[in-house]
Amino acid sequence: MNPLLHNINLSAHQHFLHPNHMPWHAVRAEEELDFLSQQVCGRKDEQLRATAYLYKELAQLAEIEFHVASVMVRVIAESQMRGKGELWEGSDLVHALGCFASEEVQHANTFYRYVRTLTGCDYKLENNYFQERITLFQGDHSPLVKLAALCATAYVGESVITVFETRMRNMDPEMKSPFTRLLHLHGLDEARHIRTDHFVIDHVLPSLTPLERRQMEELINATEELNTTLALTSAAQLKRQFGVDFQTQNRSAEVQLAITLAFRRAILAGDSFRKVDDFLDSDTRALLKDFSQSERVHFH
Ligand SMILES: [Fe+2]
Ligand SMILES: [Fe+2]
Repeated sequence: MNPLLHNINLSAHQHFLHPNHMPWHAVRAEEELDFLSQQVCGRKDEQLRATAYLYKELAQLAEIEFHVASVMVRVIAESQMRGKGELWEGSDLVHALGCFASEEVQHANTFYRYVRTLTGCDYKLENNYFQERITLFQGDHSPLVKLAALCATAYVGESVITVFETRMRNMDPEMKSPFTRLLHLHGLDEARHIRTDHFVIDHVLPSLTPLERRQMEELINATEELNTTLALTSAAQLKRQFGVDFQTQNRSAEVQLAITLAFRRAILAGDSFRKVDDFLDSDTRALLKDFSQSERVHFH
């Protein structure tokens, strides 16, 4: 047994909310739309821009979650024949990844349902680059190389959304807003994903050979490139469809961009990847403190 891995999901069944726990009937209430407009754009009369921004960001996150879940299932399946070494002994790693993957499927489902309920619109992404992003992971690299690359890219986005969850939990401690509830539902599972990512940093990375670390780096770079393309094309499409530019004069969008770039610098380091809080510069910490009341991103 691997106690570190085993403990991550030990009480997952007690710290989990099914999407049916969301107050779906209140997602689009007038009071909630005002609240979102205030939180996103800093004023109450920007409902359309605020909700269009959330549509874009949460749809994009859902697409990344579908990819993470799909590749993780592939890693588990491939580990049957190719999962060599101590890390694959017993069922702890398979269990941790199985929980991770299934939770990401539910997150993607929940985020899509949320943005469609919120806006009353059902805009499908014209290109989600799913095939291209999956193809990257179809080669014969070892399952641990694929796992490490996948976690490195997921960890950046997971760290960014954690900052938004911390902000909303401070703004709305009683979780009256369905949006706060959404981020809380997501964050319950994300806390375990972050611990899994940290396990990968501490225990999977050191097990890779120099060649495998270069393969991981290539997979990370190619995935990041496609994720950036996804971000740019989905923003352009949704600006056209909603008829508003939701990225200008939008404090959330500005902070999101700044911390995404800062987190990439902190986390992605050539043939390695690192815990975000260990490598943040002082300007980014000050920005986090101002935006979310906490200069730390993760507490586990
Ligand atoms: Fe997620
Ligand atoms: Fe996650």
